[in-house]
Amino acid sequence: VTARTAFIIGNGGHAHVIASLLPHDTIRFLVTESPSAGEALQDDVLASRPGDADFFIGIGDDAVRRRYFDRLDALGAPMPPCVAQHAFVAGDARLGRGVFIGPGAVVASRAKLADNVIVNTLAAVDHDSDVGEDSQVTPGVSLGSRLTIGRRCYFGMKSCVLPRLSLGDRTIVMAGALVVRSSPGGVMLGGSPARVMRPVNEASAPLG
Ligand SMILES: CC(C)(COP(=O)(O)OP(=O)(O)OC[C@H]1O[C@@H](n2cnc3c(N)ncnc32)[C@H](O)[C@@H]1OP(=O)(O)O)[C@@H](O)C(=O)NCCC(=O)NCCS
Repeated sequence: VTARTAFIIGNGGHAHVIASLLPHDTIRFLVTESPSAGEALQDDVLASRPGDADFFIGIGDDAVRRRYFDRLDALGAPMPPCVAQHAFVAGDARLGRGVFIGPGAVVASRAKLADNVIVNTLAAVDHDSDVGEDSQVTPGVSLGSRLTIGRRCYFGMKSCVLPRLSLGDRTIVMAGALVVRSSPGGVMLGGSPARVMRPVNEASAPLG
């Protein structure tokens, strides 16, 4: 087995969770604290990286994660999925680059996770569901089957979405909500059954 190096962008909670799951022999954190949206990647480190290095983005803020994804992508850095050893990912599920799948998570048959998606601890994405780029499925969330989820959606802890629904880009589902109807994007849904609570836009505060 070839020795491999992992570079993890970030040094906060999510970065250390990724580090705890990786099989790589050497792990380096590329920033000293959770970076803000304005912080640049350390170009010198990237330029001198070993040829066998893999890159992981350990940042929970979905907008910031996307900035680093684009930057690494432009540099041609490999961003393989990070999948916990005790997650279940069906053989016919499709995982984009930079995807994170946490311990106890399930990604069922023919589910598709686009680039940069997080499916965190004990969360489930049921069969034939599509989850759009940069979306985040936080611990304990249940996403039903045959869903169409847009880009940069956020599902708060233990929320549920019933099967066959569509949620547009930038939908935020509050922790514990039960989503029973499809919804256009740009809204926060909360409660059981979930209702539109307020609009969401680019300026809305990041969720953690
Ligand atoms: C929806 C959410 C973003 C609201 O955050 P916020 O705007 O800071 O809301 P506040 O905590 O100020 O609460 C505002 C009101 O909403 C209520 N509220 C907050 N979260 C709620 C939830 N998930 N469901 C129902 N009501 C909620 C509060 O009780 C409060 O009600 P009040 O005004 O009657 O007292 C947040 O509660 C949430 O669900 N975040 C997801 C966190 C998460 O899952 N993180 C995962 C980390 S891996």
